[in-house]
Amino acid sequence: MAIPDEEVAQVRAATDIVGLIGEHAALRQQGRRWVGLCPFHGEKTPSFSVNGEEGLYYCFGCQASGDAISFVRATEMLDFADAVRRLAERAGITLHETSGRGVDTRWRGEMLDAMERAVAWYHERLLSAPDAGPAREYLRSRGYDGDIVRRFRLGWAPDDWDALSTALKLSERVLTATGLGFVNRRGRRQDAFRGRIIFPICDPSGHPVALGGRILPPRGAAPADPGRGPEPKYKNSQETAIYSKRRTLYGLNWAKKDIVATGEVVVCEGYTDVIGFFQAGVERAVATCGTALAEEHFRLLRNFGRRIVLAYDADSAGESATARVYEWERRHEVDVVVAALPPGTDPGELASKDPAALAEAVRSSRPFLQFRLDRVLQAADLATPEGRAKAADAAINVVAEHPDDLVRDQYAMTVSDWCRLDPEVVRRRLHEARRRPRRDESRAPEPRRRPPERAEGAPPEPDERPDERRVERPLDPSARPGMEALRLAVHRPDSVADRLEAVLFGDEVQRRAFVALTESDSLHDAIDAAPPDVADLLRRIAVEEPLVSADSLGDPGDAVVTQLVREAARRALAELQVEARTAPSGLDGALAQTARVKLWLEELGDPSDGSEASRRLLAWLLERRRED
Ligand code: UTP
Ligand code: MN
Repeated sequence: MAIPDEEVAQVRAATDIVGLIGEHAALRQQGRRWVGLCPFHGEKTPSFSVNGEEGLYYCFGCQASGDAISFVRATEMLDFADAVRRLAERAGITLHETSGRGVDTRWRGEMLDAMERAVAWYHERLLSAPDAGPAREYLRSRGYDGDIVRRFRLGWAPDDWDALSTALKLSERVLTATGLGFVNRRGRRQDAFRGRIIFPICDPSGHPVALGGRILPPRGAAPADPGRGPEPKYKNSQETAIYSKRRTLYGLNWAKKDIVATGEVVVCEGYTDVIGFFQAGVERAVATCGTALAEEHFRLLRNFGRRIVLAYDADSAGESATARVYEWERRHEVDVVVAALPPGTDPGELASKDPAALAEAVRSSRPFLQFRLDRVLQAADLATPEGRAKAADAAINVVAEHPDDLVRDQYAMTVSDWCRLDPEVVRRRLHEARRRPRRDESRAPEPRRRPPERAEGAPPEPDERPDERRVERPLDPSARPGMEALRLAVHRPDSVADRLEAVLFGDEVQRRAFVALTESDSLHDAIDAAPPDVADLLRRIAVEEPLVSADSLGDPGDAVVTQLVREAARRALAELQVEARTAPSGLDGALAQTARVKLWLEELGDPSDGSEASRRLLAWLLERRRED
């Protein structure tokens, strides 16, 4: 690996995980832990828990778990090394990377540095250069004041061949790799953006990674440059090593705070729409960068907010993702709603004309299906029987796309009301429509429901997310004392030191977790070295409080160890009896052993002889294991 292990550990130790996660989810302190709504799945009661001391998190609802590095990986869609780099930067730690990846990082750093300098330079030009006068005037005419220009770091790219390349002295390599410029046929450096207003596109942390450039509207009757032909309104950076369109949302860096605070994100189409929403006081808008809203965008967004408001032009919103929206809603546990924009309006324009109406459009968003259905019904002729039949047919097809039968049934009632049809007829047709194969997709499976609350001590439900399936553990009746013992081993190791043995754990995952603990110097090392199911269990325990109260009289380990020994002995006894039946030669020995073990088990409950019996049972269990 490129980053030395010690430095990974150093980064982990230097990261305040409560502060880090607090940027994405509201956490409140509860004893030693911090709890809040899980940033990885939608929920109304908090089941997400963070242990600041150990630097670990665990969600009792969806079993998402990990440390600061895995958190950054999941929320910012980074690979391990990049997540470590991100955290190192945050903590002010310099990494000493060894091989290939180190070169990559330096190179990425150079590109980011060039982008940052370019954005600062364009911005400065817009604010003060004489040739930016028309651009300033245009922005003012759109209602952009100095605060907006500075907040979004808008810029002006002068209409020169190479003003930026020359001013910044960018190397050919950096110039071309960032898309800031290129080398022309005569071998000279040339700027990519010329005579355009610059909209910097940033990563979620606010580092510029790409640019969008808008031409000024033609002034007066001035003809377009005949040599160049009609130019597109916007020119955007191409994808580069630091810029992926599918994974980037314009505005997320400015919007994320409000998105996290409100749980809602507004998705629109353009740079000026995002800015318009901010002007209207809706500071949680983002835009896709010249691509359709895609799976990756959802994956990125769901880490910030669970309610996604589509604020597209009504036509494109209706057609955009259709049935895939339901798929994403389910997979990412988000709600997709559609803003009530007047038809044909552009949020950017509405913001300058009537900002209150824009904010209101977000407030009165409708569920995606409702929106689609309303459109069909509004377009229909409901005055004639034929018109209503036709409308019902179209409406039923729209409702049929929804994967949840309860939701479908609700909307079936709406259709029957509007089209004056018997609800049973609508239901039957809906049922038929569901059975017809779709044109463009295989039928969506039924939605997954959130698992019911689990009983204390029960093993976690298998993870529901398809991308990170976990190992399912069967329910083991002895799971509870095993869990308690592991809790003590993690949180109060002194209370069980030298009194626990692997053989005492009936549950296999618990046993492996215990072994992992004993074989490692720290909880962290144990988690790192363990396979996923074991690591999961340890992380879960790390964020819990041990259930045995600290102030109870006596040794908290006593009761737990006794219980564990008792159950282990009973299991072994049951096995012994099976052995005795199947192997007659060993019958006598088995009977004698059974009698002794039963005696010890009785003594185990006795306060005076208990610990002696416990020692004997443990010795017997260990002896049996050795014989195996
Ligand atoms: P719009 O044409 O709606 O532009 O394109 P806009 O954002 O409303 O801008 P103004 O208000 O006219 O200044 C929406 C988005 O589509 C992409 C841009 O990302 C733009 O923000 N687009 C549009 C392009 O990439 N190229 C184009 O030529 C036009
Ligand atoms: Mn527009």
